[in-house]
Amino acid sequence: MSTSTDPAAQNPAHTAMAETRAATSAKGGARTLAVTSGKGGVGKTFVTANLAAALAARGQRVLVLDADLGLANLDVVLNLHPKLTLHDVFTEKATLEQAILPAPGGFHVLLAGSGMVEYSRLTPEVRDKLLAIVDLVRPRFDWVLLDTGAGISDVVLFAVSLASQVLVVATPEPTSLTDAYATIKVLATQQDRREVSLLVNQANRVGEGKLICGQLQQVLQRFVGTKPGQSFKLDLLGEVRQDTTVRQAVLKRQLVMEHFPGSDAAQGIKALALKLMER
Ligand SMILES: Nc1ncnc2c1ncn2[C@@H]1O[C@H](COP(=O)(O)OP(=O)(O)OP(=O)(O)O)[C@@H](O)[C@H]1O
Ligand SMILES: [Mg+2]
Repeated sequence: MSTSTDPAAQNPAHTAMAETRAATSAKGGARTLAVTSGKGGVGKTFVTANLAAALAARGQRVLVLDADLGLANLDVVLNLHPKLTLHDVFTEKATLEQAILPAPGGFHVLLAGSGMVEYSRLTPEVRDKLLAIVDLVRPRFDWVLLDTGAGISDVVLFAVSLASQVLVVATPEPTSLTDAYATIKVLATQQDRREVSLLVNQANRVGEGKLICGQLQQVLQRFVGTKPGQSFKLDLLGEVRQDTTVRQAVLKRQLVMEHFPGSDAAQGIKALALKLMER
């Protein structure tokens, strides 16, 4: 399974993805972070929304883009009822200014809403439009966070390819870890990424994140092909504890950062924001 050849060199599409990322980051503006996962339901949307609030609390201008086009639910989590969404921007019924909305927590959102199901298949049109939107919003913010879907479908991988940094969310469950491994492997081989960040969510004890990251890194080192002299790094960016306030907040459609700021989960998210800002 292990190979010393560069996957990007074997497939022009992979080279194109790496070039898109390089060109996008060269344009300056916001730092782009895609929040993704192998398995669904591990806490991506919760983490993205609360991380946005934590960064905003530190004076950062943050936009969250609901890039889970097929199964968008950031609006539900934030209790927003948008009249205008990405769909209206795609069809030129609204301008970006009209569709970018203020969210509780002091950040902004560009929501997909339920009208985006038709975009869940990656067509050249969807690619071009998403790419253009990310380019347009980057100069106006410090951070653009992309809340993506789970798994390794074309549309998820394309949304992830738009960001210069990827945060993979995984829980300690074996199924989540196997799927996280598969996702990270695809990111390393197909998107030619040399570093991926990891957030262990719903950790049962302090230090579980470090343990899990070490185990994943070991397997990845063995099976992810890199050029001679290059290595792959899985970087543990944080650990958020399993915490009953998360479910309470989600049920009330509130942010943990706002309503339970002293909780274990909020502390984990604050530490994550700080670490991201320090990088
Ligand atoms: N740290 C945590 N402690 C307790 N429960 C949590 C935690 N993080 C997430 N959850 C629970 O997991 C549920 C799913 O979270 P979320 O919707 O953010 O997952 P997701 O990865 O975005 O899912 P999808 O793949 O469907 O987009 C939340 O509603 C919440 O109840
Ligand atoms: Mg989600």
